[in-house]
Amino acid sequence: MKVPFFKPTIGEEEIAAVVTCLRSGWLTTGAQTREFEAEFARYVGAKHAVALNSCTAALHLALEAVGLQRGELVLVPTMTFAATAEVVRYFDAVPVFVDCDPRTQCIDVAAAARTLEQIAAGQPAAGVFGPYGRVRAIIPMHYAGQMADVDAVNALAATHGISVIEDAAHTLPAFTRTNGSAPWRAVGTTAAITCFSFYANKCITTGEGGMAVTDDDTYADRMRLMSLHGMSKDAWKRYTAAGSWYYEIVAPGFKYNLTDIASAIGRVQLARAEELWEARRAVAAMYEVALAGIPGLERPTEDANRRHSWHLYSIRLDLEVWTKGRDAFIDGLKERGVASSVHWQPLHMQPYYRQAYALTTQLFPVAAGLWPRLVTLPLYPGMTRDDVELVADAIRSLQ
Ligand SMILES: Cc1ncc(COP(=O)(O)O)c(C=O)c1O
Repeated sequence: MKVPFFKPTIGEEEIAAVVTCLRSGWLTTGAQTREFEAEFARYVGAKHAVALNSCTAALHLALEAVGLQRGELVLVPTMTFAATAEVVRYFDAVPVFVDCDPRTQCIDVAAAARTLEQIAAGQPAAGVFGPYGRVRAIIPMHYAGQMADVDAVNALAATHGISVIEDAAHTLPAFTRTNGSAPWRAVGTTAAITCFSFYANKCITTGEGGMAVTDDDTYADRMRLMSLHGMSKDAWKRYTAAGSWYYEIVAPGFKYNLTDIASAIGRVQLARAEELWEARRAVAAMYEVALAGIPGLERPTEDANRRHSWHLYSIRLDLEVWTKGRDAFIDGLKERGVASSVHWQPLHMQPYYRQAYALTTQLFPVAAGLWPRLVTLPLYPGMTRDDVELVADAIRSLQ
C-alpha cells in the first residue's frame, strides 16, 4: 500500500522505555502502571484512572461497577464497534439500540429519550418488548473522536435515574462545551465512568490497552478489584517488599490488568498526546482542502462546541454521484495503493443482534441509511501532504 490505513507513531523514547522496563525485572502490573494511571488521571482531570488491557475490559468493568444485573437494560448506539454492545451481553443483560445523529453519527439523544419513555410506559421500544427489567445505563460513544452531546445524555440519564458510561475509545484528547461562553470540559470528566482504548491505531497506543476513569471512589475501587481476580489487598504488590503473600478473593473477578511493558509505552505516548493530536488535526485540515473540489463527497465537520480528536476521518459518498457504490470505491482505492475502511456496519444489522432481538433496518433509519455511504480514509500522525494528495488523486481518478 502506498498509503496504509494506519501507522503507529512509535519513536526511540517508547522503545527505550520498553527496554528499561524489560531490564528492570518487573514486567507485569507494577510501578509503571501506577505512574501511568496517575499521569492519565491528571491529564484528563479525573480523580481515578484504572489501567486495563483493553477498552472492552474497561466497558465491562464499568457496567459491573454500576451494578448491571441479568435481564436489565442498557442503551447503546447502533452505530458503534462490537465492544460497546457485547459487554452488555456478558451480563446476560439486554442492549437496547439507539439510532445515530445524521451529522455526527453519535447517539441520537432524542431517539434515546423516546425509547426510555416507551420502556417506562411498558410499550415495545426499538426492537425490545416488555416486561422490562430496570434500565441501568446508557453508553454514548464519541464517533471518530468528536464527543457526543453529553449534556443532553446526562440530563436524560438524570431524569431516568440511569448511569452514564462513555465509550471514549476514539477520543484523546477531546473537549466539549455547552455553548460559546461556557468553559471547555475534557473527555474523562463528563460521565460516571469513561473508557479509553490504547489499541494500535488509537490516539495514543500501548499496542493493546485501555483505561477507565472516574471521580467516584467506590467505582474506582470496584473496577480495580475486579480487574485482578477479585483479589483484595493490592494483589499486584504481593511479590514486592511492600506487599504480602496473603490475599483474599472477595468476588469472582477477571484478568484485565495492564502490564508494565504496555504502561511504559503508554507513559511516553501520553506525554506526546498533544503533539500527536496536533499532527492528526493537521492531516484533517489537509484533507479538508484536498477533497474540497471533489463532487459527491461529504466531509466530516468539527462542531463549534467540540474539539475533535480526529482519530478517524470518515467521509460519506453521495451514491447518486458514486453510482458504482461504496464497495467499488474502496476496491478502487485499494487498486491505487490506498487502504480504507468502514466505521461501521450498524450493530442492528449484524447477524447476531439482528437475530437475537429480531431487529429490522426500519427501526434505525439514519444509521441504516448512512452505512452504505461510509468510507474511512487513512489518518495517522505521520501522514504527509503528499500522502493526502495521493489519496485525493486516487479518489479523483475513480470519478
Ligand atoms: C468505539 C469503540 N469502542 C470500544 C472499542 C474497543 O477497544 P479495545 O480494542 O481497546 O477493547 C473500540 C475499538 O476499536 C471502538 O472503536
